[in-house]
Amino acid sequence: MAEFNLSLSKQTELPFQLIWQDHSLRLLQTEIAKQGAIWVDFSSPQSDYRRLQVSIKKEAIARAVGLKSGKRPRVLDATAGLGRDAFVLAALGCQVKLVERHPVVAALLSDGLRRAKAEPTVSDIAERMALVNQSSLSYLQQTALLSAQDKPQVVYLDPMYPHPENKKKAAAVKKEMKSFQSLVGADLDADGLLQPALASATERVVVKRPEYAEPLAQQKPSHVISAKKNRFDVYMV
Ligand SMILES: C[S@@+](CC[C@H](N)C(=O)[O-])C[C@H]1O[C@@H](n2cnc3c(N)ncnc32)[C@H](O)[C@@H]1O
Repeated sequence: MAEFNLSLSKQTELPFQLIWQDHSLRLLQTEIAKQGAIWVDFSSPQSDYRRLQVSIKKEAIARAVGLKSGKRPRVLDATAGLGRDAFVLAALGCQVKLVERHPVVAALLSDGLRRAKAEPTVSDIAERMALVNQSSLSYLQQTALLSAQDKPQVVYLDPMYPHPENKKKAAAVKKEMKSFQSLVGADLDADGLLQPALASATERVVVKRPEYAEPLAQQKPSHVISAKKNRFDVYMV
């Protein structure tokens, strides 16, 4: 845990706790009764279902990042979260660098990747995923200075977007996801990611947005790919 600047505490009243259970690191929001824990499990039935179903044609995210037969771009996922989107891209064959700034989220993700690398059904996918615990604002600035062959072809952004209170959707967000959102908070500085992302990607920047949200940094995308629950704004470089 020292790797993520997290230290052990003897306090039991803390609103969020990381616990070690069933060989995995889990996050509990203790103030909510009967709250399920959050952990990253790339070999869960849901992830397994995604892994077996992913195909370039079916996944809007695959079209958004520009996957074609024989083309698997290097992707920098600059808002990695619990790694679900990155897992889909890696399952499709992309090399994915995952950057996550929140130390607790990065610790959960790191533990999920560790277990996935030891699990034969998903180890090849997990080997294509590499985690960096840093703010993407600084990481993208460093990346922008690299030579073209070392830069990512695609930068992928999915910052937390506050759900408007009156949207029915807000109620539909699963309890566990609400916990995740209250831990991480709204990514209010997200607009600042677009310019460094455009300076780092050699081909395109893809931004995942709820369908009702305005474009990131109010900048009109080159084109939009709509999916069931959200849309992908694509900025060609
Ligand atoms: C909505 S979640 C991403 C979910 C992710 N796409 C998935 O599939 O699991 C947004 C995440 O981006 C992270 N984040 C936001 N801004 C960031 C930044 N500047 N650098 C690194 N991580 C950032 C937040 O901490 C949060 O974990």
